[in-house]
Amino acid sequence: MPRRLMVTTALPYANGSFHIGHIMEYIQADVWVRYQRLSGNEVHFVSADDAHGAPIMLKAEAEGVTPQQLVARIAAERPKYLQGFHISFDHWHSTDSPENVELSQDIYRKLRAAGLTYTKPVEQFFDPVKGMFLPDRFIKGECPKCGAKDQYGDSCEVCGAVYSPTELKSPYSVISGAPPELRSSDHYFFRLSDSRCVEFLQSWTQDGRLQPEVANKALEWLSGENGLADWDISRDAPYFGIPIPDAPGKYFYVWLDAPIGYLASLKSYFDAGKGKGQTAQSFTEMLGDPGVEQVHFIGKDIVYFHTLFWPAMLEFANRGQDAAPGDTQLRPWRYKVPKTVYVHGFITVSGAKMSKSRGTGISPLKYLELGLNPEWLRYYICAKLSDRVEDIDFNPEDFVARVNSDLVGKYVNIASRAAGFISKRFGGALAARELPADLAEAFGSAASEIGACYERREFGKGMRRIMELADLVNQYFDGERPWDLAKDPARSTELHQVCSNALQLFRELTLLLKPVLPELARSAESLLGVPPMSWAQAGQPLPQGHRIRPYQHLMGRVDQATVDLLLGLAPESPAAPAPAKMAPSQAASVKAPPVAPGTNEAGDTISIEDFARIDLRIARITAAQAVEGADKLLRLNLDLGALGTRQVFAGIKSSYDPAALTGRLTVMVANLTPRKMKFGLSEGMVLAASAESSGIYLLAPDSGAEPGMKVK
Ligand code: MSP
Ligand code: ZN
Repeated sequence: MPRRLMVTTALPYANGSFHIGHIMEYIQADVWVRYQRLSGNEVHFVSADDAHGAPIMLKAEAEGVTPQQLVARIAAERPKYLQGFHISFDHWHSTDSPENVELSQDIYRKLRAAGLTYTKPVEQFFDPVKGMFLPDRFIKGECPKCGAKDQYGDSCEVCGAVYSPTELKSPYSVISGAPPELRSSDHYFFRLSDSRCVEFLQSWTQDGRLQPEVANKALEWLSGENGLADWDISRDAPYFGIPIPDAPGKYFYVWLDAPIGYLASLKSYFDAGKGKGQTAQSFTEMLGDPGVEQVHFIGKDIVYFHTLFWPAMLEFANRGQDAAPGDTQLRPWRYKVPKTVYVHGFITVSGAKMSKSRGTGISPLKYLELGLNPEWLRYYICAKLSDRVEDIDFNPEDFVARVNSDLVGKYVNIASRAAGFISKRFGGALAARELPADLAEAFGSAASEIGACYERREFGKGMRRIMELADLVNQYFDGERPWDLAKDPARSTELHQVCSNALQLFRELTLLLKPVLPELARSAESLLGVPPMSWAQAGQPLPQGHRIRPYQHLMGRVDQATVDLLLGLAPESPAAPAPAKMAPSQAASVKAPPVAPGTNEAGDTISIEDFARIDLRIARITAAQAVEGADKLLRLNLDLGALGTRQVFAGIKSSYDPAALTGRLTVMVANLTPRKMKFGLSEGMVLAASAESSGIYLLAPDSGAEPGMKVK
């Protein structure tokens, strides 16, 4: 029976772009998910922006936009990163959504019915100028311990002391500068200290579902001196959040509605009609099937929320529903408690922790813009990951060495050496697989062994095993000396056998690496002339006479100079040679300020700001080719001057001879989200005129225009 899984990653705060820590988490989860899909399991992989809370509200205010506008601007840039690194979420949503309001209020009502909520007055700092209660991070003052000035309300960056904001000396509001006043207000609490909660969490955290170090941490919290503290789940207006039912002016604290956003995303995904077609029928069907596993990937800093608050909220919402059978306000479904929470450590860069404000030395967007292959990073991160809560380090020299020696030197090398002989000498046809005993044995158990590594998230171990297998194939190939065999026509059968065996095993390695290198696997499958492979096909030889396609470049080597550019170690100038190989610059263009969509009622005009968001550029067509299997498309290579190069698929084949296009200038939309097509990535659009039935006319600028010039 296939497993049924709903898988999430932590919801990133919507007040900033993705950093490399986010991408690392998504790569880990994506590889696990791809392995599950390849194994025939049903997977629904969702995430969302974590939109609520005071910091986002205040940041938006400082920028003179609404929180919704700020969140929308960040949401709009997500796909560029996710597609860029081949992260295969089925759905991306937001906690600022109707689904999340419905679910959060439902869970709250059910907790209330379970008798686990109450209110009590809380004294807190209030900014009298701004007219709001201040989160700890928005109060500064002198450290009560060492006297250092300008320290945050929760901890001192100089001496490390931890305290509450009321202990600060000469406190002031970061927002207005005014000295805050202590004021009292009623807050809503979740009674986590209740013996029922503690008992449930004892069992849920200690029954073997969590990593040992995570379970131990939870036990420490559960059996601490004062047990679990009740959890303050409300904030007073003004707050960007979800209103608490029957509590005017009170909102849920962002961490209450954030994890519920996992379910909101899943609900919106099913309600939009996505996700069906596997066994799943609907959101409620998924929740109702006790066999469905709910799995969360998170980082080590948010374990408390995910192993105490979150399972308790879900479990006791259900108990509240049982306690109030006739309450028609309660939604009919029951929640699942998570099957497990997988916790990873942090990524550092050259040993340095990344700062919240400055990010790290490696920006994921810059990585893509420099044309570095996203699969290099996927492989490198996987090679370092284990099932433990350990930090991993991105080390630039190690990165270059590992990718070049493993992926290019070991794996791709097999195909590039064997395929040429098969194509040139044997018409592309393979001999039947006949492996020497040691290779047959080594590969015999590979898929189950590596599969277990993926399942258990021991990716580093899996990558090492795969590279050992690749070493064996290379040793076999070298040992048979095919280049000598090729000189002797009498030994042609031997040559055929050796090269065929190498390609048969290259196929096995491709499958084993497929969760990590989905695009490379696609190219390899095309080279091998096989449809997309699944895990069940491991160990199945290609039949005698099976034809492969002529070898095409699969993956290049990483160039240290480009990695240095990524880390800001080398001077960057527009004159520097653009090393673009994959998905070049998108964001090099000037970004116009965000505007609210649909700002006019008639819907037939747009503002000048709307127009300014479209980045139109002069492009030179440096190559144009027909696309095999597409009768309308031409593949265009475009030069955008300082912005690098792009590949675009244009539906202009009916009107243009590719040869006549090479060298001419046209106009392109340069900031269109790249679109993955069957034939490759399309990174923009060229502009052409057309009417119903009279051909297509590509735009051209007057002479004097240069590639990269802005059109406005
Ligand atoms: N919004 C909360 C999560 C809510 S989940 C219901 C949050 N957001 S975050 O943007 O700060 O972090 C999102 C995820 O990125 C978390 O799992 C966090 O652990 C992870 N990482 C943040 N920095 C990281 C590294 N340097 N390395 C690896 N992961 C890191 O927390
Ligand atoms: Zn101090």
